[in-house]
Amino acid sequence: MYSENFRESLKAVEAAREANIAYEPARMTAQEKEDLLSEFHPDYKKSEFSTLKIGPNKGESVPHELCEVLEAHSRISPDDVDLSDIKYDVDVLIIGGGGAGASAAIEADKAGAKVMIVTKLRIGDANTMMAEGGIQAADKPNDSPAIHFVDAFGGGHYAAKRELLAKLVCDAPEAIQWLNDLGVEFDKAPDGTMITTHGGGTSRKRMHAAKDYSGAEIMRTLRDEVLNRGIPVVDFTSAIELILDESGKAAGAVLMNMETHELMVARAKTVIIATGGAGRMHYQGFPTSNHYGATADGLVLGYRVGAKLLYADTLQYHPTGAAFPQQIFGALVTEKVRSLGAKLVNRDGKVFMHPLETRDVAAASIIRECTARGEGVDTGLGQAVWLDTPMIEAIGGEGTIEARIPAMMRMFADFGIDIRREPILVYPTLHYQNGGLDINVDGMTPNVKNLFVAGEAVGGIHGRNRLMGNSLLDIIVFGRNAGINAAALSKETTVGKLTLEHVDAYEEEIKRAGLNPTTVSPKLLPDYTRRKQESKL
Ligand code: FUM
Repeated sequence: MYSENFRESLKAVEAAREANIAYEPARMTAQEKEDLLSEFHPDYKKSEFSTLKIGPNKGESVPHELCEVLEAHSRISPDDVDLSDIKYDVDVLIIGGGGAGASAAIEADKAGAKVMIVTKLRIGDANTMMAEGGIQAADKPNDSPAIHFVDAFGGGHYAAKRELLAKLVCDAPEAIQWLNDLGVEFDKAPDGTMITTHGGGTSRKRMHAAKDYSGAEIMRTLRDEVLNRGIPVVDFTSAIELILDESGKAAGAVLMNMETHELMVARAKTVIIATGGAGRMHYQGFPTSNHYGATADGLVLGYRVGAKLLYADTLQYHPTGAAFPQQIFGALVTEKVRSLGAKLVNRDGKVFMHPLETRDVAAASIIRECTARGEGVDTGLGQAVWLDTPMIEAIGGEGTIEARIPAMMRMFADFGIDIRREPILVYPTLHYQNGGLDINVDGMTPNVKNLFVAGEAVGGIHGRNRLMGNSLLDIIVFGRNAGINAAALSKETTVGKLTLEHVDAYEEEIKRAGLNPTTVSPKLLPDYTRRKQESKL
C-alpha cells in the first residue's frame, strides 16, 4: 500500500500506461551505451577501487572491499594445524553447497570418485536458490548455440574467454535435458514443449523457467539427487585455507566448524572451489539480492595459493532491485517482469529506456534517471523508478502475473502492494560477480594444479557483463564439467606431503609490501552489527 506521498506520481504512471504499452522505445547505439556506462555505471567509478599490492594480480584494480579481504591475514597460522591429523580423506573435495557444487558432486560421484561437499551453511543456502527468471539454452528450431554465443559475447563487451563461452552455449541444450531428466519442473506448453521467453540482450526466446523460482526448483532437484546418492555433506563448516602438497598441487583444505571454531584437515586428490558470489560485500554500499553467505570466500582461498583472478573489477548491479518497502530493500525483482511486458518509467510516467537493454546499460540508465536527470521518485529510502507491472496483464491477459511470476506477486502482496494493479519501485542492487578465478576449459586453474573452480567464483565465462539466465546455466555446465574432470584427475593423482607454507609466504608478502591489515579472511559471514556510536553520555 503506497502512502499519499506517491499519489501524484502514481497518477501520472496510470495516465500514461496505455500509450506506454503501445510505445516501442528505441535501442541505444553502441556509442550511447558506452557514454552512459562510463558516466553512470558503478564499475567505472575509479574512486571505489584500490590497486592490489600483493598476489598474482598485483597492480590490478579491484573494489576496496575485495582488496581488503585479498590483502588480509589468514585466519590461521600453520602452527595451529596438525596436518598429520586427517579428519576427511577424499578424491574430490567440493567447497560450497550451491548449484555448481551439487552438480560437480553428482558427476564426480557418478564417475566413481569418493566425493565430499563442505559448506559453511547448509546445502542449498546459495545464490542458486535465489535465482528467479530462468536458464538460457538454444534448443528451439529458430535458435542455435552460435546465436546464443553472439548474444552473450556482445553483452559481455567481447571480453569473455571464447573457449569457456563456447562450452557454455554448446553444452546448454544438454544441461536443460539433464535437469529435466533429474526432475526439474520447467514451464511447459500442453504439448510438452518448453515455454521460453526473452531476457535482456537475447535475440531469441531461450529462457527456460520454473515460473519465477527457477533457481529454487533447480536447487531442490540437485539437493535431492546429492542426498539420494548418499554423497556426504559436511555443513556449518567452512574452508578457511587451502592445503597444497609439496609439489604445489591443491591437496585439501583446513576446515573450521562455524559454531565451535574447531579446526579439521580434509585431504583430497582434487579440490573444487564452488563458493559462489560476493553480494554481501556490499560493494559501494549497494544493497544485494544475494544470500547471506555470499562473501567472496573462494576468491580469497584461491588467490592465497596463487590462482589468478580475471575481471575482478567488474560486478553486476541488477537493474531492478526492490526499492520499496524497506523490508525487501535490494531483493531481486526478476528481469522476467520486463520480459513479460512491464516497462520502466520515471516519476512522470515517461518511458526512459528500452526495457530489455543488457543489465549494465539498464542499471546505468536507471541511475542516470535518478541522479543527473533528477526524474526519480523519492521513496524515503533513496531515489527509484517505477516498473509498471500492470502492463503485464494488459498485454498478456488477466491471470498472467499469477501464472508466470507468482513469487513476485506474493513478495509485494505481503506489504499490501498488488502488482497486478499497481507498479513497483526499483533501483539497481548488487547481484553478481562477473569476475572471479581464471580457469581453463577443463575447469582447472592454469597455475595451481588440481584446483578446479565452478559457478560464480569463476571469472571469464561471461566477460564484463552477464546476460540473464546464463548463470544458472554456467553452474550446471561448469559444475558438471569440474566434477567429471576432477574425478578423472583424482584417479591418476598421488598426494604428497601436505603443507601450509603458502600461508607464511603470503604473510611475508604482506610485510614486504608494507601493508598493515587489520582484518582476517575469508570473511565467511557479513557483519551487520551496529557500530557503537561514540557518546559522551
Ligand atoms: O532477473 C533475474 O531473474 C535474474 C536472473 C539471472 O541473474 O540470471
